[in-house]
Amino acid sequence: MTSRPSSAPLAPPRPNTVFQGDCADLFALLPDNSVDLLLTDPPYKDYQSNRPVAHEKVTAISASTFDLARFIRESERVLKPGCHFYCWCDHLSFPAIFEAIQERSRDLSPRQAAQRLKYKNCLIWVKNNHGSGDLQGNYAPQHELVIYASKGRTRPLLSDKRPSNVFFEGKQGSISFFSKVANQRYQHGTSKPLPILQRMIQASSKRGEIVLDPYGGSLSTAEAAVREGRQYWIGELDAGHCERGTERLGQLNLELAEEGFDTQWLSGPHFQALEAPHPIPAPHFERAEPRAESPGLAAATRELPDLLRGD
Ligand SMILES: C[S@@+](CC[C@H](N)C(=O)[O-])C[C@H]1O[C@@H](n2cnc3c(N)ncnc32)[C@H](O)[C@@H]1O
Repeated sequence: MTSRPSSAPLAPPRPNTVFQGDCADLFALLPDNSVDLLLTDPPYKDYQSNRPVAHEKVTAISASTFDLARFIRESERVLKPGCHFYCWCDHLSFPAIFEAIQERSRDLSPRQAAQRLKYKNCLIWVKNNHGSGDLQGNYAPQHELVIYASKGRTRPLLSDKRPSNVFFEGKQGSISFFSKVANQRYQHGTSKPLPILQRMIQASSKRGEIVLDPYGGSLSTAEAAVREGRQYWIGELDAGHCERGTERLGQLNLELAEEGFDTQWLSGPHFQALEAPHPIPAPHFERAEPRAESPGLAAATRELPDLLRGD
């Protein structure tokens, strides 16, 4: 483990790198204000179910913990001011993540508020088909949610017209929704559709900018970033997902280069195994006395791991 004086600035890692290990150790490598867009999908309840993923149980996941408070703090630290934060969740994990953001954004001076996430909206992916569950006594689960926030005052969305907070194709009246990604496709149970990820990336970043996904899964966010001419830092705990995902990204680069895609941003994919544990950099914006943790937030963050474990 390399130690560094807490005041020494960190040099940003190489763009287009896949980091294998706990995302806490990835965050520890990232300088303050170094990320243009944070788009991620933490391991919420659905992932923890015991369903087979291409007949293979992913054991690394049960060993992992999702430290919500730390995830929010670190997201605020690494995002550039005004930049956007997207966090996939479901109706069970939404309340805790929402509350963790809200708690930190109350009663702040303007200077403090500029450094904190500001909740903006809840985006919805309606799936073109639904999952299973309680077939008799419950409604069929057919949507996933995305918390959309920004660090301080939001930079404008880069979109020709104002995007709807429901993802669909076509015009009102003849719309279609985006399909689920088959588990077998990337040997992963919760891959998100590329067209939705690409829309988020288009609307919330410019060419060449850095997209961070600390919970990368099958590395779909990285693929979407490359397709949009953005660069990425992507973390993933599971070695198998990293290996398959890195292969996927290497193949993508070859295909895009052959198609005559602008190769300016097609470096990598580089791979880095994370060295743990790294010291957590002191967030420079939190010089004021820390506020006492509210009972609401404490309860929400205590309950989240239970939600994540599933019934
Ligand atoms: C919901 S999945 C992400 C799926 C991804 N959006 C996709 O499209 O493939 C969450 C991922 O987080 C990973 N993970 C869980 N705990 C982690 C941790 N502490 N650090 C990094 N990755 C972690 C899991 O291995 C899992 O692949």
